[in-house]
Amino acid sequence: TTDATHLPRSALLFLARRPGLESAAMRLRPFRRLASRFIAGETLEEAVDAVKALSARGLMASFDHLNEAVQTPEETREEVRQYQRLLARIDVVGVRANVSLKLTQCGLLFDEALALENARTVVAEAAAHDSFVRIDMEDSSVTQVTLDIVRQLRAEFGEPHVGAVLQSALRRTEQDAKELCAQRIRIRLCKGAYLEKPDVAFPDKRDVDASFVRTMRVLLDSGMYHGIATHDERMIEAALDHAAKRGLPRGAFEFQMLYGIRRDLQERLVREGHPVRIYVPYGRHWYPYFMRRLAERPANLAFLLRNLARG
Ligand code: FDA
Repeated sequence: TTDATHLPRSALLFLARRPGLESAAMRLRPFRRLASRFIAGETLEEAVDAVKALSARGLMASFDHLNEAVQTPEETREEVRQYQRLLARIDVVGVRANVSLKLTQCGLLFDEALALENARTVVAEAAAHDSFVRIDMEDSSVTQVTLDIVRQLRAEFGEPHVGAVLQSALRRTEQDAKELCAQRIRIRLCKGAYLEKPDVAFPDKRDVDASFVRTMRVLLDSGMYHGIATHDERMIEAALDHAAKRGLPRGAFEFQMLYGIRRDLQERLVREGHPVRIYVPYGRHWYPYFMRRLAERPANLAFLLRNLARG
């Protein structure tokens, strides 16, 4: 029920923002073991191996180097170098993959100009490799500045090289979708993984889903290539229905799912001829990402607690 899932979700999302817990939690074996279902490894090469395996199953990928807690300009520059290595490696290996980048990783929380500059360097590298950077969306305190930075980069580099993410949980999202489509900015639509207040986000899951469907229709009607990112079969059916109604061919948009979640559904969509891209996170700083995945599904938490109790 909603009540039974609400409390653990808020608690886990709260704990996700407590980096102090990171090192203690990451030492627990059952915690690490469960995390390895959702994280492709700690190094770039482990992530490349995971993407090769996905590729063999007909899936595309988007690499994400996890690191939300950068604190100094030097650390942000190390993130930029990581993405430069990553984009070069994707080219050499020849897998169908792009990259996802968070602006906090580029320094957004302490220096907006630096964040833009770092993101610009990554998008320039992607453009040189004829690749694409998806700027992930984080909590609502940075929605506006994130979209402003994507607009700026889109103006500099063009539609095929950079795109945005919108979260159907936010009340503003349908309107944002219309504006971004008018500016020909490619969008990944997801539900939203952060703890938000009711003045900016729908507290009720049914409203989040209804907003997802409305926004999905805006995207599919735009004539552009967008990503529908969800594991919710009802959302996927709604997208397929709408595409059929509009006579859109397969490949007019892509489905996107997270590494380690609903492999069966990923494969079914590929078998049916739809492009499917898997978000592949890797790196040492996987704690907040993993906590958001735990929060999404109480069964994950129950599984973890059982294993921790067994020791
Ligand atoms: P919902 O949560 O309703 O889940 C539907 C079904 O999916 C569940 O019943 C279960 O079967 C399965 N499922 C979902 N989550 C699971 C989990 N953790 N473990 C096991 N099963 C699970 N968010 C954000 O705020 N900013 C972003 O940039 C992104 N980027 C992003 C990229 C991609 C490719 C995806 C798929 C998702 C994101 N997200 C995101 C996360 C997104 O906002 C959302 O939190 C999750 O996708 C879960 O929502 P669903 O749409 O899957 O629906």
